Amino acid sequence: MFSHILCALLCMLQDLPVVRSMWDEWWTYDGISGPSRWGSYNTEWELCDKGRFQSPIDINPASIVFDPNLQSLNITNEKIDGVVMNTGHDIRVSLNKSHGHRINITGGPLSYKYSVFQIKLHLGTADDKGSEHKVAGKSFPAEIQLLAYNSELYANVTHAKKSPYGIAVVAVLAVLKDLGNQHFSALVRAAGKLNSKGLSTDLYKFSLSEILPTTMTYMTYEGSLTQPGCQETVTWVILNRPMYISSYQLEKLRELTRGNGIGDPLMENNFRPVQPDNRRLVRTNIPIKEEPDCTIKKTTSYIVNDKLKPS
Ligand SMILES: *[C@@H]1O[C@H](CO)[C@@H](O)[C@H](O)[C@H]1NC(C)=O
Ligand SMILES: *[C@@H]1O[C@H](CO)[C@@H](O)[C@H](O)[C@H]1NC(C)=O
Ligand SMILES: *[C@@H]1O[C@H](CO)[C@@H](O)[C@H](O)[C@H]1NC(C)=O
Ligand SMILES: *[C@@H]1O[C@H](CO)[C@@H](O)[C@H](O)[C@H]1NC(C)=O
Repeated sequence: MFSHILCALLCMLQDLPVVRSMWDEWWTYDGISGPSRWGSYNTEWELCDKGRFQSPIDINPASIVFDPNLQSLNITNEKIDGVVMNTGHDIRVSLNKSHGHRINITGGPLSYKYSVFQIKLHLGTADDKGSEHKVAGKSFPAEIQLLAYNSELYANVTHAKKSPYGIAVVAVLAVLKDLGNQHFSALVRAAGKLNSKGLSTDLYKFSLSEILPTTMTYMTYEGSLTQPGCQETVTWVILNRPMYISSYQLEKLRELTRGNGIGDPLMENNFRPVQPDNRRLVRTNIPIKEEPDCTIKKTTSYIVNDKLKPS
């Protein structure tokens, strides 16, 4: 009886605009509001449960297909100004709108021009986890994602997220090395000031090109956003070389909390578990010649089945 009343009350509250926005933030990476429950909390998040094109996925190197039509990716080489924020779910940099459209992504598997609007960091509590995507069942200690929206077709991010070919995400997997990427330290230092949820700080002249590995090879597939509402409008581009991150940089990020500061739960393991690939194709432009230091080392080549060959 009581639970019915409580439910009715909650459902009623959910319809109020103010409470609704609070409700929108009420999801986590563990416990009763964790990834396996996202789809049942909000009808707008149904795809988190029901979608067949969900991300992240575990990339199986043996089933990647080499696609000679894939062009190289073109990312504008400009420094960015933005606001770094601890959202309680992640650390993200939102590019200032007034400086919008400064970083465009074209080429690669993309048929439209995409403009970067956000950079997100995903990490874990230990070095053997943290990335959202896996390669051959293996996780990486962190994943940096550049989120961009289709600025040729859509006026804003909200609209693009719900629309065909709306979003492109360029993901970089991080690998531990004694000397981490020095340019990444600027972001780590900024994040270091944000020990509790809701805090934000400005970041000036952050160089994306200095943190991205110099590679033209990548893997690509069609998937979704990895946070609610899991919209299936994302073309993923996973660069084939990692970024280097030091233990010190990683530790600094792991110290951040998703509450009100010291003593509150740490912002840890903020990655969504891998989702079924449902026979989706992962394409690559990684040439047959092996590159040193890449996340994927080998590709299969296309072999004609003898039985099907015209005689
Ligand atoms: C990359 O972008 C630059 C600047 O917009 C442009 O001049 C160049 O042609 C592009 N290259 C490719 C391969 O798309
Ligand atoms: C970004 O814009 C906000 C206001 O929209 C401003 O307060 C902030 O200083 C700007 N930050 C940077 C890094 O330009
Ligand atoms: C990026 O694309 C936008 C929208 O098409 C355009 O206004 C802007 O000039 C482009 N920026 C660069 C650096 O090419
Ligand atoms: C986003 O664009 C759509 C369609 O152009 C428009 O209806 C909507 O008001 C815009 N939303 C925001 C937040 O600007």
